[in-house]
Amino acid sequence: MTKGKQSTSAVSLRGRDFLSVDDLTKLEINSLLDLAEEIKLHPKKFSAALKGKILALIFEKPSLRTRTSFTVAIDQLGGNCVDFPPGDLGFGRHESLYDVAKNLERMVDAVMIRTFAQETVVSFANFASIPVINGLTDHEHPCQAIADFLTIREHNKNFKQLKLTYVGDGNNVSHSLMLMAGKLGATLHVATPEHYEPNSDVVTRARALAEESGGSIVITHDPAEAARDAYVIYTDTWTSMGQEGEAQSRHEAFKGFQVNRELLSKARPDAMFMHCLPAHRGEEVTNDVIDSPQSVVFEEAENRVHVQKAILYALLKS
Ligand code: CP
Ligand code: NVA
Repeated sequence: MTKGKQSTSAVSLRGRDFLSVDDLTKLEINSLLDLAEEIKLHPKKFSAALKGKILALIFEKPSLRTRTSFTVAIDQLGGNCVDFPPGDLGFGRHESLYDVAKNLERMVDAVMIRTFAQETVVSFANFASIPVINGLTDHEHPCQAIADFLTIREHNKNFKQLKLTYVGDGNNVSHSLMLMAGKLGATLHVATPEHYEPNSDVVTRARALAEESGGSIVITHDPAEAARDAYVIYTDTWTSMGQEGEAQSRHEAFKGFQVNRELLSKARPDAMFMHCLPAHRGEEVTNDVIDSPQSVVFEEAENRVHVQKAILYALLKS
């Protein structure tokens, strides 16, 4: 959160931005999770909470869940949205980022952006006087991580005592999960092939947070060891949006990192399989895992709606 005043109420993030998990304190994250749970339980109580508020959705990459969950969330809170699909705005090509920000701040109440560089959302937020939400960059996917920890918490309130494991690419999703684990005091093992580790600054930051919170962040190249006795096995695509040209070499590099029955069998018998989706079935995960009773991938997707509502409410509610 980079704008506005820190509220005395833990859940009010009024006027601030949400560009990184690291913009929130542990207390604010827990308050958002509590609010998302309350909204999920009592949606009608919040049906006019953001009446008259308008959210702009800017996508420079494709989206199913983020687009739908934000659209549904603002609608179910009594507001409306305007959606700019990839190619419509052309930041810096059709119109400067600054001009887009200065126009939109006069017409809408908040902007969600999905783009490539984290610097783009940071610059936009600096230019605009209204809250800006990161709907995924190459560096982070903070809204996803909040929804994922809501899902984990719903299944087991004692998740801080359990081993959580991420297997695959050290990408945007892994970064936000590491920062969440660091903030909340969870133990997260991240297993990647060599050369596909998470960003070293994020690792350092997540470890510093974990030191304060009592959690730990373990980076390894051994998926079997990471999966051993884990309560969560999380994976994501090997080829993120924008990396399509590397698909072939990534396919080779990630061969031993598929989440299949054999890898899942190393985890606890009650382990959950998680994935932010979209999944590339047969690549990072097999059908018998993603379609198994241990898979909670569609719960994660649904929780995007409840979490989006909590975020919008916290940023925009007067
Ligand atoms: N998980 C997620 O952000 O999905 P979309 O890319 O479909 O928005
Ligand atoms: N790492 C993936 C996440 C998609 C929600 C990507 O950036 O494409």
